[in-house]
Amino acid sequence: MMDTVKYLLTEEDIPRFWYNLVADLPEPPPPVLHPGTGQPIGPDDLAPLFPMGVIEQEVSAERYIEIPGPVRDILRQWRPSPLYRARRLEKALDTPARIYYKYEGVSPAGSHKPNTSIPQAFYNKQQGIKRITTETGAGQWGSALALAGAFFGLEIQVFMVKVSFQQKPYRRAFMETFGATCIASPSDQTESGRAILREHPDSTGSLGIAISEAVETAVRTPDTRYALGSVLNHVLLHQTVIGQEALRQFDLAGDYPDIVIGCTGGGSNFAGIAFPFLGEQLRGGKAVEIIAVEPANCPTLTKGRYAYDFGDTAHLTPLVKMFTLGSTFIPPGFHAGGLRYHGMAPLVSQVVKLGYANPRAYHQQECFEAGVQFARAEGILPAPEANHAIRATIDEALRCREEGISKAILFNLCGHGHFDMQAYSDYFAGKLYDQEYDESELAMALAGLPSVAA
Ligand SMILES: Cc1ncc(COP(=O)(O)O)c(C=O)c1O
Repeated sequence: MMDTVKYLLTEEDIPRFWYNLVADLPEPPPPVLHPGTGQPIGPDDLAPLFPMGVIEQEVSAERYIEIPGPVRDILRQWRPSPLYRARRLEKALDTPARIYYKYEGVSPAGSHKPNTSIPQAFYNKQQGIKRITTETGAGQWGSALALAGAFFGLEIQVFMVKVSFQQKPYRRAFMETFGATCIASPSDQTESGRAILREHPDSTGSLGIAISEAVETAVRTPDTRYALGSVLNHVLLHQTVIGQEALRQFDLAGDYPDIVIGCTGGGSNFAGIAFPFLGEQLRGGKAVEIIAVEPANCPTLTKGRYAYDFGDTAHLTPLVKMFTLGSTFIPPGFHAGGLRYHGMAPLVSQVVKLGYANPRAYHQQECFEAGVQFARAEGILPAPEANHAIRATIDEALRCREEGISKAILFNLCGHGHFDMQAYSDYFAGKLYDQEYDESELAMALAGLPSVAA
């Protein structure tokens, strides 16, 4: 029999519904709170920030939510994404493990992010919104929203974390190609940005600061809303096309994963690959071991506290219960900008809290080592964020070799690294260091968590 390398679906097989894990969880995540009143917020509180179509999804407990036709039509451009069997990597590792990866780098922006930028732009357009503001860390989300803006005729303004803006100048040119504006954050264009610059003129920025700038701009500009590329329930929901496709592709392969692995920044690509499999398990299907991989110097799930916190640094967002390092925590400037967020999606936090997923943290050098080994075997150059998932995958495959067992391991190759070559150059030049985060800064940020009545 031929050794199949990629399992492909047709455009007809693109899921017609998004899958909402909330419907199957024994306990839903605690409510989002208004920071002023401490009371659960309602749809009207979110209306200045998001269009109603998105807000309805944010609070929905329905198991399946229909994907609008115009959204599915655009998803056809790159979906269904391929599921690969990493046969050459298996050989290189001399492992009995069966390694599979879902490749989201086939999207026009190079990552999983367009899976949610397209529907978010759609619902904004439907409501007559003219402009969307956002933040971006790695540049992948900003690129994805820029692309969606071009498809739907919306103006897009992106605040890009300064350290990434400097590391990846071509991401800005990419966004500009699609008609978007890209500004290094912290900037002097918002009160939040100016406040940071007054105190820290050399600030390299953080996702928390960039979110503050984007939210502030959205709220004070007419016909403008804000879009977030991760963390929130509706974003995780949109990403479930990944795992739903993977379920069907495993049918084609005649296999089923024992282990599912994703890297976690705000939690969206991890949720996208893992939640549909977890849903099967919660409805009586086969149990899977789920591993969430994060960077050791922004260790939200492994070192953070499960508490109510703000999503941004200037405290303009509602309070969400999540694993957090404290909204003022600024991680060292390592080369995986998409994973430098102080918090974690409330739904992913709840899944970890309930014991359905195990978090794990790695330093960047061991992740780049894994990414290079993967690239040399499989021919795809991964985004530095994805290297975290690859590290865990290789470690699990090596464990299979030691123990002489064959497990099926699935990981999400959430993006390619073609705009991240400076990071790879630094790695090859021996200029990439495993910097530790500052323990006293973390303690201070945690001490500053808002107090919320039980
Ligand atoms: C390629 C890639 N992977 C992962 C992430 C992390 O985000 P999330 O945890 O929401 O998937 C990002 C964020 O920018 C990214 O660009």
